[in-house]
Amino acid sequence: MTVLVTGGAGYIGSHTCVELLNDGHEIVVIDNFSNSHPESLKRVKEITGKTFHTYPIDLLDKEGLERIFLEYEITSVVHFAGLKAVGESVSEPLWYYRNNVIGTIILCEVMKRNNVKNLVFSSSATVYGEPDAVPIPEGSLLKTTNPYGRTKHMIEEILRDLHVADPDWSIALLRYFNPIGAHESGKIGEAPQGTPNNLLPYISQVAVGQLDELKVFGNDYETQDGTGVRDYIHVVDLSIGHVKALVKVKNEKGVHTYNLGTGRGYSVLEMVKAFEKASGQQISYTILGRRPGDIPVCFADTRKAFEELGWRAERGINEMCADAWRWQWRNPEGYPSIETDKQTSLEKESTKFFVPPKQEKVLNE
Ligand code: WQD
Repeated sequence: MTVLVTGGAGYIGSHTCVELLNDGHEIVVIDNFSNSHPESLKRVKEITGKTFHTYPIDLLDKEGLERIFLEYEITSVVHFAGLKAVGESVSEPLWYYRNNVIGTIILCEVMKRNNVKNLVFSSSATVYGEPDAVPIPEGSLLKTTNPYGRTKHMIEEILRDLHVADPDWSIALLRYFNPIGAHESGKIGEAPQGTPNNLLPYISQVAVGQLDELKVFGNDYETQDGTGVRDYIHVVDLSIGHVKALVKVKNEKGVHTYNLGTGRGYSVLEMVKAFEKASGQQISYTILGRRPGDIPVCFADTRKAFEELGWRAERGINEMCADAWRWQWRNPEGYPSIETDKQTSLEKESTKFFVPPKQEKVLNE
């Protein structure tokens, strides 16, 4: 009775592994480590005191996926693996469609062949585009404005068609608003590669001295201080939402779509103030023009997740910023890169990783 977590070494994936393990689930993780760190999974084990196996498998590797379903009694899949940078998707659309859409199709083909039909999918509020009204309910018109958002929208439609063709499928589509923060231990957190695109990791890198100052993209929006408003949600609340969605898909077939947000919006400048309060650091910033593709205001209607999953976000903005700061000052460079000798052994092990379980090499023990 194992849950397969794809992309489990990522920011939201690793936090969800913690909550799944804390909830008593057996898990197995696959990740291609293209935008994540094996170290995060080592720390998941430290936090929970539990162990699990990890395989360096890309979703496009159908053979590799098949072997996971052969080695483990997979009952459900929580699917995070995917590329997620809006700007990058505009310059590299084929890479995004291939990785996100074709990768998910391959995953579903392998699930179908192994008669595994419980799926929790990591979707995004980006499928709403610029909303007609806020708060945004799940039934809103979907208006994606970039290839990344279109991959999420396409996958949602593919999964709906899959259920129409075979009503035995039970699927939760979780539309994330803006996940921020970190586990209270400060051991795992957001570790973007290169310069962060997103607001919170950028602010926390300014606070810890990795970056000079924040660039605020526009202060002429029709909001209380002119800067963009978003629904920031603590990554631990978001992760607990996945555990609740897993119960739902186990008990009820169908396609269940939920906003995972707090229902409250904060502006960029409010976030700067909240982070300064939580960290005791001054965040210097300059106001620039609007970032292309940004929308003025976005926050969730959260009633459906509460009514149907019994879930709502519990952690407020101060806790989000305090937890984000603890992760950042304890890990100013993010996760350590693997030392060369470990890297070699990691590569060595990964080529042998399909030895039978008793002699199996585990990537990150
Ligand atoms: C938030 C606000 C910016 C950076 C993106 C993706 C979305 C989802 C979450 C995956 C906006 C402002 C930001 C900076 C700034 N990801 N900002 N200076 O754009 O709401 O959503 O991440 O699912 O798909 O689109 O998040 O953190 O980039 O921006 O002023 O350096 O902060 O203008 O108002 P966004 P964000």
